[in-house]
Amino acid sequence: MKTNEEQYFHDILDLLKKYEYLHSLRNIDFFLQDQWKKLPNDWLLFLKDLTRDELNQLPRNGHDHPKCPETLKSFLIECGRLSVLTDEPLAMQPLPDTISKSVKQKKRHELNHLTSFIVSLCDQLNCNRVVDIGCGLGHLLRAIGNQRPLKLVGIDSDAACCSKASTSFDVQSGSEFRSKTITANATKHQLDEMLLGSESDRTAIVSLHGCGDLQPTILKWFAEADRAKAPLLIAVAWCYHKMSCGEDGTCINFPLSSCCSTALDSFRVSPSSLRLACQETAIRWESQSHEDHDKHERSFVHASLLQLFFANKGLDPLSLQPRHRRRIMSSCIFEAFVEAILASFELSAVVKAEWSEELNKLWTPLSDYTFAVEPFTALQVALQAPLESLLLSDRLAFLKERGLNASLTPVFNAAISPRNMTIVAHEFL
Ligand SMILES: C[S@@+](CC[C@H](N)C(=O)[O-])C[C@H]1O[C@@H](n2cnc3c(N)ncnc32)[C@H](O)[C@@H]1O
Repeated sequence: MKTNEEQYFHDILDLLKKYEYLHSLRNIDFFLQDQWKKLPNDWLLFLKDLTRDELNQLPRNGHDHPKCPETLKSFLIECGRLSVLTDEPLAMQPLPDTISKSVKQKKRHELNHLTSFIVSLCDQLNCNRVVDIGCGLGHLLRAIGNQRPLKLVGIDSDAACCSKASTSFDVQSGSEFRSKTITANATKHQLDEMLLGSESDRTAIVSLHGCGDLQPTILKWFAEADRAKAPLLIAVAWCYHKMSCGEDGTCINFPLSSCCSTALDSFRVSPSSLRLACQETAIRWESQSHEDHDKHERSFVHASLLQLFFANKGLDPLSLQPRHRRRIMSSCIFEAFVEAILASFELSAVVKAEWSEELNKLWTPLSDYTFAVEPFTALQVALQAPLESLLLSDRLAFLKERGLNASLTPVFNAAISPRNMTIVAHEFL
């Protein structure tokens, strides 16, 4: 008999296995691997006729469309059912706004909400010290310091960030910024030394948008840390696809929990799936304008066509100089795209003519399938929620398996800041 948690991981994995073609391949290989052909025919026929406004609604409301095929309906409903993401942030105590006007709107939103959340939990858990790991320019610590007289420590692997952060802090504030890297192979003792204060300090560990391996590494250390000294963890993730992989291509920090690992069995989550997990969410997709769709479709098609052409010629797309790539990708029409490719190489007139003909030959049959790009992307947007949910739920399960009181809380409005779920772990209140 499976627990609810085991059943949840099994259900997500069933969905991911069944629709692997939607998330595990690189979008850049769309034409190279005929990805649109993998969509069921009745889905393609239905999707072909949708207006762009209907496409915007597809991930969350497509199942209500009277012409939606039954299997597509089930897919969309299952994606919604398996999501643990929430768009609206938890209602938080408003704090006096002390954030500099020069900080951009998205960051202001994040700082205001997260600060309110952090200070309220620090008050409840009697924390007198906050360590922000991956502190960047120290905006979060500054916002916290403006609300409470806490000891503040910022840690970031980027020395330039730390130095900028410390110069913009009041020298009297007692806060410190250390340029240190939290590496996966650091011992518990080394991390204790780096993160915990004196005997009497109760430290809240916070991390806003800790990318790649950073959040899993913090979680692993926190699970073993002395609870009296580190009673609280508040961490928002970022860039799952930057997690490192072992020599066999398996992600080192996924899965973390035994529960997810058992359900996963031999299934591998590909780098493309991890990338999709941290891409646009359904709520942001809903507000795409027609121009946004046109622009996305154009760059998607150009990138995939370039990939196909280079593969046929045995060329490495990475060998293109960035300025050439930019020019190719920004072409508005096919003819300009071809021109930009030809201008990126020193070619004789004869070779230019040959390449131009080859590109035209490639494009003619494919141009009929550009209609599939935005629907394909809409289906990927629907899968983003279960994919990110899988990663977050695994991290949560890991903490719970180690006896921690852990939960996922929406701290930002997802329409403003898509990576809006924070992992919170603390001793029992
Ligand atoms: C996405 S940025 C977030 C910065 C800041 N928290 C914010 O939200 O504005 C991630 C930060 O984590 C830092 N970082 C990444 N990996 C790290 C590691 N292993 N140890 C320490 N800092 C790290 C980076 O230098 C970067 O400043």
